[in-house]
Amino acid sequence: MTKIMIDIPGERTYEVRVAFGALSHIAQAVHGCAPSRKVFLITDDVVADPYAQTVARDLRSQGFTVTVARVPSGEESKSINCAGELWDSMAQAKLTRDSCVVACGGGVVGDLAGFVGSTYMRGLPVVQIPTTLLSMVDSSVGGKTAINLGEGKNLVGTFWQPAFVCADLNVLETLPEREWACGCAEIAKSAAIDSDSFFFWLVDNADQLAKRSGEVVQEAVTKSIVFKASVVSQDKAETQGIRECLNYGHTLAHAIEKAAGYGTYSHGHAVAEGMRFAARLGVALAGTSLEFIKAQDELLDKLGLPALNFKADPQLLLEIMQSDKKVRAGHLRFVIPEDVGKWRVETVDAALVLEYLEAWQRSLAN
Ligand SMILES: NC(=O)c1ccc[n+]([C@@H]2O[C@H](COP(=O)([O-])OP(=O)(O)OC[C@H]3O[C@@H](n4cnc5c(N)ncnc54)[C@H](O)[C@@H]3O)[C@@H](O)[C@H]2O)c1
Repeated sequence: MTKIMIDIPGERTYEVRVAFGALSHIAQAVHGCAPSRKVFLITDDVVADPYAQTVARDLRSQGFTVTVARVPSGEESKSINCAGELWDSMAQAKLTRDSCVVACGGGVVGDLAGFVGSTYMRGLPVVQIPTTLLSMVDSSVGGKTAINLGEGKNLVGTFWQPAFVCADLNVLETLPEREWACGCAEIAKSAAIDSDSFFFWLVDNADQLAKRSGEVVQEAVTKSIVFKASVVSQDKAETQGIRECLNYGHTLAHAIEKAAGYGTYSHGHAVAEGMRFAARLGVALAGTSLEFIKAQDELLDKLGLPALNFKADPQLLLEIMQSDKKVRAGHLRFVIPEDVGKWRVETVDAALVLEYLEAWQRSLAN
């Protein structure tokens, strides 16, 4: 069992547990968050059976009153309608401020449950039980919660740190390959931004991670959470220019996902392509070495994140990037890796981005 303490200035310290079988201790952990022993458990219809039902059964056997709320699996559930239905159900369940919300699912459930939990009665403790690799290594830690609007993703949300995070690696057994690769992309992102020791450890263990070898999975999840915790503890509300490093690869990724149509490529495959692109931009902007580009390309290949053969109009990709909510005053911002463990955020001239998009498109097989 690995225990990581997340210590963010101005926030209550909380624990993240990472282990095969970590859920067997969940009742004990929830006890500290819900003195009333009343729990509102939010899940989706894929994860409900068996994972959320097992958690509910366990908690009930320890004397908790548990209301289970299921939302449909998928991004559409991060909506104001779903949030409204959950708030109503929370009121019907007569939750009070000494009750707690438990999120059992991937990043969608975690973001949605975090959002309703942080707003209902001005905030209840939220326990995160992430069930995808991505939600274990990224979304369950750090306190960002969100729902989507028609105008864009994650436009409404709060910063609300969880009270406890329980990452039981056993649940990853049923995770589809595409979702596994999404988590691997965020792990590769973290490693490249973090340090030589994480990056080269991952290079050496990428094949084993792709094959889901137990020890390597536990180590990769732990290293990623420690990295995320260190970033968030320095910049919890993304105001210090540090948390922005977590967007490495995401500027182009969002444009690829939108231009191709959401769901055509997984978020992870798009992020991996965005990392390849940002590293190449780095050659012009930050003296990024060809060795770094090659090492990162090989790492992503090994993790099942090959270069995308996505043909698109460079001008269209540029326009989508310029309309992104993170664009400030029309300037495109990229997290550029100078080298392993060294990065900076650059405001990049649109003409240069277009030049690199054209070069990328020319390099694709016909
Ligand atoms: N809050 C943050 O800091 C943060 C960071 C990154 C991403 N996010 C958000 O996370 C979301 C993506 O999260 P995700 O990739 O986990 O997607 P997800 O929650 O949609 O899960 C992906 C799919 O896997 C299924 N699933 C979940 N656990 C499973 C399991 N153990 N076995 C089989 N199937 C399982 C889900 O039902 C879903 O169909 C996005 O909405 C994104 O905006 C938030």
